[in-house]
Amino acid sequence: MSSPPPLAGGLQGPQALRPLLETALEALAEGAAERGGPLPRGGPAAVEARVREAAGELLPAHGADADEALRAVVGAVAAGAADPADPLCAAHLHCPPLALAAAADLAASALNPSMDSWDQAPAASALEGLLTAALAVEVHGETTEADTGADALITTGGTESNQLALLLAREQAAVHGHALHVLVGENAHHSLRRAAWLLGMPEPVTVPAPAGVLDPAALDEALTELPGPPGHFLVAATAGTTDAGLIDPLTDIADLCAAHGARLHVDAAYGAGLLFSDVHKAKLHGLDRADSVALDLHKLGWQPAAAGVLTVRCAADLDILGHSADYLNADDDTEAGLPDLLGRSLRTTRRPDALKIAVTLKALGRTGLGALVDQVCDRAREFADLVAAHPGFELYDKPAISTVLFRPTDADDDHIARVRRTLLTDGTAVLGRAQLDGRRWLKATLLNPHTRSEDLAALLALVEGISPR
Ligand SMILES: Cc1ncc(COP(=O)(O)O)c(C=O)c1O
Repeated sequence: MSSPPPLAGGLQGPQALRPLLETALEALAEGAAERGGPLPRGGPAAVEARVREAAGELLPAHGADADEALRAVVGAVAAGAADPADPLCAAHLHCPPLALAAAADLAASALNPSMDSWDQAPAASALEGLLTAALAVEVHGETTEADTGADALITTGGTESNQLALLLAREQAAVHGHALHVLVGENAHHSLRRAAWLLGMPEPVTVPAPAGVLDPAALDEALTELPGPPGHFLVAATAGTTDAGLIDPLTDIADLCAAHGARLHVDAAYGAGLLFSDVHKAKLHGLDRADSVALDLHKLGWQPAAAGVLTVRCAADLDILGHSADYLNADDDTEAGLPDLLGRSLRTTRRPDALKIAVTLKALGRTGLGALVDQVCDRAREFADLVAAHPGFELYDKPAISTVLFRPTDADDDHIARVRRTLLTDGTAVLGRAQLDGRRWLKATLLNPHTRSEDLAALLALVEGISPR
């Protein structure tokens, strides 16, 4: 019998990885060249056919050559990718990861620490502890009011962070014998309602957001009309809405929560990256007062997915996640000094996403990250100016972060949807769509710090080139 395939870790791991990496990198380059743009031409049927051909029989009786399999499959996925590193791939909060972060993520894959017990992740768990402490202070400042200070958990993203925030709030209310009621802005991310459903909570109360941001007067009214003891309500605000990148008036909302004894969660999955920028961080004034904050470094943080974080102003809020499983955190092991990691997530096996984040923060520092944030915000403003100056286009509003909503003047909603699909099928650009003010808009989410002025002009020209039928 032949020897088993080489492993990624250990003394021999790097040596085994090097030629395979060479192949994977070549396949990435060949795939990108074959694609020749932000996404493949031809739409779903053409992409499926290409992938089917490369994949062949996926579980053959006898395997193929490893190098060939790697080249064929990686090449097909690269050729058929929607690549956020292309300036014209700008639909979603889907950032182009930094090469540095991807390299660190490769190391994470090779070492494969699992963050559910210290004996699977000794150094990775120590690093995660340092990172979460630093991010908690970044968001909430050096907390003094609770003796435990702030803390943070690594999550898979805004969806999981929002879910955890509702769970923590529900359990805090339960300590005082109350059922929790959630209030969300009309502009909130869909994951908050889904989390309430998942957790068996009543349907959240929707607070109007007439100008795209949660209306404090309407929130005051809702909190007044729904009487309940302090700690009975959770208000979920947004810093960086998915559709328009708008930021709720955080200070006013924090004041209202304090006055009504409501807990405050801010979904800053998109916007929290502004904290790194001296130019833009004032937009998040009041964020530090939230009881919990969702922030995603796979959005405005240039990390490969996933790189989600949930911060809490009071570390003791996390105590309810404590959980024991003898094989992972036996009491005697914990008493003997082995860190208990199981309460740091609802997941069990968990990737060391902290590694790539820590490497990036250390390498770029606040100024490096801030410069990336400033760059994409400047590009968004430039694109908005281009749209506003063009008689053939209408601009929704000046961008609050890096999202620009626009539409061809006098186009109907069907045309907007058709423009987006035509560009997707042609493989020339990836734009998003948003329904706001009763109308459909094209959405450009600018997250690529390498995007140039010419790319913005090219994007607008592509849209202009599709005539209404
Ligand atoms: C405001 C907001 N919150 C939460 C999420 C969910 O994040 P994830 O997809 O990382 O779970 C998104 C996704 O775009 C978002 O825009």
